[in-house]
Amino acid sequence: MATYRIGLGVSGGIAAYKAVEVMRLLQKSGCEVSVAMTKHATEFVQPLTFRALTDKHVIVDDYDPANPDPIAHINFSQQIDLLLIVPATANIIAKFANGVADDFLSSTYLASSAPVLIAPAMNTTMWENPATQRNIEQLKKDGVHFVEPVAGELACKTVGTGKLEDVENIVRQALELLDAGTGRRGDAEKGRRREAEKNPKSQIRNPKSKDLSGERMLITVGGTREAIDPVRFISNHSSGKMGFAVAEAGHARGANVTIVAGVTTAEPPAGIKLTRAFSAEEMHEAVMKELPNATVFVGAAAVADYAPANSASSKIKKDGKDSMTLELKKTPDILTDVSAHRTNGLLIVGFAAETNDVVEYARSKMKKKNLDIVVANDITQEGAGFNTDTNIATILTPSGDVELPLMSKRALADKILDEVIRRRRS
Ligand code: PMT
Repeated sequence: MATYRIGLGVSGGIAAYKAVEVMRLLQKSGCEVSVAMTKHATEFVQPLTFRALTDKHVIVDDYDPANPDPIAHINFSQQIDLLLIVPATANIIAKFANGVADDFLSSTYLASSAPVLIAPAMNTTMWENPATQRNIEQLKKDGVHFVEPVAGELACKTVGTGKLEDVENIVRQALELLDAGTGRRGDAEKGRRREAEKNPKSQIRNPKSKDLSGERMLITVGGTREAIDPVRFISNHSSGKMGFAVAEAGHARGANVTIVAGVTTAEPPAGIKLTRAFSAEEMHEAVMKELPNATVFVGAAAVADYAPANSASSKIKKDGKDSMTLELKKTPDILTDVSAHRTNGLLIVGFAAETNDVVEYARSKMKKKNLDIVVANDITQEGAGFNTDTNIATILTPSGDVELPLMSKRALADKILDEVIRRRRS
């Protein structure tokens, strides 16, 4: 299932090897990737690496007799939904900004009407040079998008801004740009249309539609923290990214959203009501209080199943002991209780974080807890589960399973809400 066609442009910097990782992640998320390289990029990575992994000719020079397409820069540029440049050197940025078309990649930039996303990487002085900044400003005015470089130790052993952003974040931003349908000339819509043409039944959501207006969503987010004593606790790795993404997507689609958040490291979305509840017990209480107002409940939190049976009121001392035994008691199962208090029309979405037999375990949770939808994520997969910006999930619904490739948590949130809408209309 190729969702989007990406033209990946690689220019000549030490970070060129990271373009291979970007290409793999895009492929894993269902994109079809074609690669173009500058001549200098081939000094860092062999075109053969990309050719072996894409099964396509990698274009460096239009005029190369080995190039199977005589007007490659036109064909390549017209057949992509996004032109993504990783890494972008100061030189390629300057060429794009000034309309110079003296090689395949710069000609492709001029000949393409697809959105362009540029991930620069270079030495700090080159990055900060007024000429580079002027070129970037010009490209931004031309509607080009940027994944800004980050600060860190650079290949030249200096520390400063100019390091290529994490590959996961580059891929996330590329997918978000495509999913949002925004771009230089709105051509990201081509990807959507192509999928819709192939599968007319697939309802591709207009991001601007308010199809959840009238719904009141209650969402649990993050991990819980179960006190052993006033100093120590039991918790897990949940960052809140997945739950916050669902909240943000629901809000954008017109729902009235309330978040009950445990421990989170991600930034909560602005403008959405949020109540903090750190332990499973507190989260249960906050949820049951809000539940009568809700029409959709989403349990994205990683709630501890067990908590210390007796949390000590003062710090437990070692007292020379080599070991200690902690007695745990079961916490309230929020999702089961929500389901038991289901009023007419409440739709319930659960999550299942699993390490093996993911779909089977998720299906048994769906049955046991009487859920409408379950989002099963295999937390052992790269780019999925805790504290990542992306996820890989299968959405279980009564009408069948929707197996999804790697995508941003924000894009997955929309897919989940598409299923909520589908259930509402069924
Ligand atoms: O926050 P992130 O870093 O973005 O990570 C996202 C995530 C991995 C936490 C998220 O995608 C996820 O899978 N959340 C559920 C994790 C989990 O605890 O799964 P579970 O299989 O243990 O629980 C199943 C369901 O029951 C979940 O909806 C959970 O919220 C709910 N539950 C569990 C125990 C309990 N006592 N009460 C509950 O409501």
